[in-house]
Amino acid sequence: MTTIEKFDDNVMHTYGRFGVVLDKGEQRSCIDENGKSYIDFGSGIGTNSLGFCDKEWADAVCSQVRSIQHTSNYYYTKVQADFAEKICSVTGYSKVFFGNSGAEANECAIKLARKYSFDKYGKGRHNIITLVNSFHGRTLCTLSATGQDSFHNYFFPFVEGFVNTKANDIDDLKSKLDDDVCAVMLEFVQGEGGVIALDKEYVQQVADICREKDILLIADEVQTGVGRTGKFLASEHYGVKPNITTLAKGLAGGVPVGACLADEKCSDVLTKGTHGSTFGGNPLACAGGRVVIEKITADGFLGEVTAKGQYFKEKLEKMDEVKAVSGLGMMIGITLKSKNAADIVAEAIEKGLLLLTAKEKVRLLPPLNITYDEIDKGLEIFEKILNA
Ligand SMILES: Cc1ncc(COP(=O)(O)O)c(C=O)c1O
Repeated sequence: MTTIEKFDDNVMHTYGRFGVVLDKGEQRSCIDENGKSYIDFGSGIGTNSLGFCDKEWADAVCSQVRSIQHTSNYYYTKVQADFAEKICSVTGYSKVFFGNSGAEANECAIKLARKYSFDKYGKGRHNIITLVNSFHGRTLCTLSATGQDSFHNYFFPFVEGFVNTKANDIDDLKSKLDDDVCAVMLEFVQGEGGVIALDKEYVQQVADICREKDILLIADEVQTGVGRTGKFLASEHYGVKPNITTLAKGLAGGVPVGACLADEKCSDVLTKGTHGSTFGGNPLACAGGRVVIEKITADGFLGEVTAKGQYFKEKLEKMDEVKAVSGLGMMIGITLKSKNAADIVAEAIEKGLLLLTAKEKVRLLPPLNITYDEIDKGLEIFEKILNA
């Protein structure tokens, strides 16, 4: 029985997988079980921020495995304390709650916002406004928050209390801000929705309105956070400080992690017994995450992410088949003139290049430490496919 047959016999068929069995990775390339090599422009959907098996990251995770791999959250660990201190000091937030995924980080944010409002205003002020075309996760609650009808099927009833507003339309938002609203939740760059950045002026207006009305602003930075856009948080591009920011994907370099960060105003809302997670803040994730944050915040690193994002954009815009390039930093969406993005991604695998799609676009989320040489090699393959 092949690996794929065994897999298909035993794992639920919830993904449209490509027929490749990835076996080993090093830096920004990996090889499949037949020894074929692939340049990685997807980093496991923005997760392997330091590429495959970065030496210091791997050493930190391995040494943690050998020292203590898990404790329940009824005890303290030094590695979680150090990681939490690091995240809070880098982001300027007061406190963090650790989970294991983006959806869990968003669940925590939603619970926090509702409890903040309940504690202060009582029952009823529980609605959360999210944007049309947003994506917030696959749990029932985060699916309900997701502003795309295509996700609102099969699993009825969905969680109530989510209202959608059109992105970049401040009047539409104002018309929906009644006395039942406790929070507005947004992605600065809609990732799954097609790599679309929000307008700066709109975001600043949203932040101002939220502040005036004591409505919490929640930033879902699960995809945009941890250096992806060239700043540690995408909110820095927009000059706003949301009350709550969620992180996941790239935060621990490939070990499952989710983080919900709260500012001073709401850092003590979730009290003993109101939230929890068995695996949240797991020592392996914290050990890996510490190395990720240290490397990403080292002098010059984020400037390089910006420069490389710009380099990608300039090279892509010169390609005949490329109609437009969207995104921020190394979160890149490519609209093609005539070719189908999904077909290009499938052909790229044949030619040894891993890409992603987002809606009708080709999406790139390369490892943040990719080299110019690797960018050139990958883009050469990409252009050949586009021109074929
Ligand atoms: C913006 C955003 N929020 C939440 C999620 C869900 O994250 P996870 O799959 O880790 O639950 C994703 C995943 O793509 C995302 O892009």
